[in-house]
Amino acid sequence: MNDQRTSRMTASSWSTRLLLWCSCSLFFACSSPTDQSNNNNSNAIKEGVSPLSVAVVEIPLPDAFSKEKSFWLGSVKSLGTLIGGDSGLFHLGNNTLRDIDNDSVVGIAPWRGKFLVIAQKKQLLVWDSDLHESKLDSSFGEQNIVTLSAQFDDTLWIATKEALWRLKDKEMVAYESLNNVVELHTFLGSALVVARRGDGSFFVLGTDTEGELRVNELQTNAPSLQSLVPAPDGTLWGMSGGKLVRRKPSGDGFVWDDVSWGEWSPEPGKLQETVGAIQHMGLDVNSGRLWLVTEKAIVAILGKQLQWTPRPEALKEIKAISATLDTTFWISDGTKVHRFVRTESTEISYEGQIATFMKNNCLRCHADVGPGRPLNTYETVKTYTESIIKQLEQNLMPPDQKPLVGGDVLLFKRWMEKKMPK
Ligand code: HEC
Repeated sequence: MNDQRTSRMTASSWSTRLLLWCSCSLFFACSSPTDQSNNNNSNAIKEGVSPLSVAVVEIPLPDAFSKEKSFWLGSVKSLGTLIGGDSGLFHLGNNTLRDIDNDSVVGIAPWRGKFLVIAQKKQLLVWDSDLHESKLDSSFGEQNIVTLSAQFDDTLWIATKEALWRLKDKEMVAYESLNNVVELHTFLGSALVVARRGDGSFFVLGTDTEGELRVNELQTNAPSLQSLVPAPDGTLWGMSGGKLVRRKPSGDGFVWDDVSWGEWSPEPGKLQETVGAIQHMGLDVNSGRLWLVTEKAIVAILGKQLQWTPRPEALKEIKAISATLDTTFWISDGTKVHRFVRTESTEISYEGQIATFMKNNCLRCHADVGPGRPLNTYETVKTYTESIIKQLEQNLMPPDQKPLVGGDVLLFKRWMEKKMPK
């Protein structure tokens, strides 16, 4: 834990930056967000497939965003959301948008659960409700930053054309052989980083038991693989030709499965017809929920559950998506940001959420063999629910003080209210 404290101290030594607060009233004169509740398709509950019930909030964007090809959205619960692209950096809090900085943004990543790191071409900035300069930029010299990503253990990955940079425990290392990276994906609770190069090839980074970096080139039989994301269980999800593909961790080497909608629906063709081809995908790094934007629907997949809602007609060409730490899904076409907040609280089950929560937070000690008693089955968790609630309420678990991933004590309270369904 000492390590963590020392590195936190570094973070507070970011020097404060002089900000240009521009008046954004020009753009947002009186734009108040519209609230629509979207209670759709009640009839279609099949095994594993159910309607996604969401509250959609639309927030208008400055004109300039509609001319951008893509831009960034990043959120931390206590800080609100940052939106950044060629048009600069904006803060979205309480549904009002505020102009923060004019320089173009090439990446935004949540960091240490309470900051957002913003990459501009020439520098990294940190947002903690104010914008701060970081002292890391000097490392990059003449190199321009292309993108960045942050990992659960506070590691930051920064890509320039010439190298991939890793900031870990205050140490910045350049891997020059890992160049030309244009996209980085990490999952909060995962040790994996997936990188895409400019030529479309992918590689996966992981660390071995000695802490050495391992690089796995991904051979793939999926043509035109896009948007590869690592899920909490080690599965890699991808999208290829409008279809969902995946590589399971235990799966044989580099063979990719075509994922069939039939896994969720008893009538495979039907769901495919309803949702159409997949166009974008994102992973909620907190819960591991996979979000898809398809031709006709917004789909959320978590384990064996698939939920969907019709895609709003107004959403034509999509320029930014983000599934943020507060389990909100954001989509923007450049004119507005559509914020999808999942509203249903009815579906909660051991297999749906509780088991995943236990796996992400507790089973490193509460498995069959471990310092704590096994809490790795439906029966054991059910027996100890009250005790678990007590432990979580008093912040006693996890004792190694790692932050909780994918929920908190409310999850167990809700589950108990619903009589602990399996
Ligand atoms: C770093 C190891 C570790 C992690 C991670 C951990 N625990 Fe524990 N837990 C223990 C140990 C060791 C005990 C038994 C000794 C004690 O009570 O301190 C324990 C005790 C408990 C107990 C009391 C069980 C009893 O015998 O009455 C509960 C309930 C519990 N843990 C729940 C959790 C939950 C829920 C999580 C995840 C959010 C979690 N623990 C994460 C190590 C861990």
